[in-house]
Amino acid sequence: MKLLYLSRADVEALDVSMGQVIDAVEAGFKLKGEGKTQMPPKTAIHPRGDGTFLHAMPAYIGGDMDLATLKWVGGADDNHKLGLPTISGLIVVNDPDTMFPLAIMDCIWVTAMRTGAANAVAMKYLGPPDAQQVAVLGCGVQGRSNLVAMAAHYPNIKRCRAWDPNADALSKYVGEMGERVGFEVEPVDSPESAVRGSDVIVTAGLSPRDPEPYIPFEWLEPGAMAAPVDYNGSWMQDALQGVDKLVVDDHAQMDYYRNKGYFANTPRPCADLGEVVAGLKPGRERDDEITMSMCMGIAVDDCVTAGILYKAARERAVGTELPL
Ligand SMILES: NC(=O)c1ccc[n+]([C@@H]2O[C@H](COP(=O)([O-])OP(=O)(O)OC[C@H]3O[C@@H](n4cnc5c(N)ncnc54)[C@H](O)[C@@H]3O)[C@@H](O)[C@H]2O)c1
Repeated sequence: MKLLYLSRADVEALDVSMGQVIDAVEAGFKLKGEGKTQMPPKTAIHPRGDGTFLHAMPAYIGGDMDLATLKWVGGADDNHKLGLPTISGLIVVNDPDTMFPLAIMDCIWVTAMRTGAANAVAMKYLGPPDAQQVAVLGCGVQGRSNLVAMAAHYPNIKRCRAWDPNADALSKYVGEMGERVGFEVEPVDSPESAVRGSDVIVTAGLSPRDPEPYIPFEWLEPGAMAAPVDYNGSWMQDALQGVDKLVVDDHAQMDYYRNKGYFANTPRPCADLGEVVAGLKPGRERDDEITMSMCMGIAVDDCVTAGILYKAARERAVGTELPL
């Protein structure tokens, strides 16, 4: 028996596009809404306390996809002091008949891409139909992949206003992302300048259990969408409570975090994204509706993205075969 090992370089060499990941993640949410997935909430250990985690994220997706995966992902807040990214880990792909492992792959690319893609799916169902001005607050890995996802979803974006408390991170982001997305990426010196007037606002800063949020409801325009990937880390209580619709990617996942003390100031969402994509609950209903999607990142997103990579790697003979 052999399994396929895909390093980060192998994964990136497959050159799978954001558009492909968005389509797969949308299909995954639909199957989740239809009850054709199995996905227990994350299981966590914290070897060095609150600033660190290792999460086990298993998922099975039925339907035509028929995939089983486990992501074993770690995060350490102080990694940047060592010149390392916050997030690292592996995904195991299993045969859903025999349960044998088929592949192991690096998860950094998957985690970045699927999080942006999940937000793009949320924007399709909950965002304004045609965003021209967007904002990104928190200009790291997620700030990048979420802007790429917005560019893939919204063809008429004219400008992104970007803000980060770290001036170096902001300046690198502006230089790099303007070229990548093909519209203006303008650095701004305050969160308020980024948020006011924007159609869609992604926040990708810190997500601590006891956050110090700084974005009030009054900065949001009628019809705007808030799309945090940093949980409730950036949004003040009146914003979390003031939006017309708050949708989460998975109720059970949010309950799990609530039990650990997160989301103390966050009302119960009116739907999960799977229910919206499957047509069981409404998405955006009015032009002036203010919406928020709280995508915490779920194993179904990882599973569908790893599935595309595994298929592409087999077809193109990328990766290293290892004995089991
Ligand atoms: N929802 C998901 O699926 C998912 C997946 C991965 C990461 N995350 C979360 O996304 C966030 C960003 O992760 P990343 O991998 O891009 O980290 P990163 O370290 O690459 O980037 C984080 C950026 O946020 C900036 N920042 C720090 N404090 C800030 C603040 N108060 N407001 C705005 N920006 C601030 C930092 O200067 C840095 O540039 C983290 O909160 C992480 O937990 C969510």
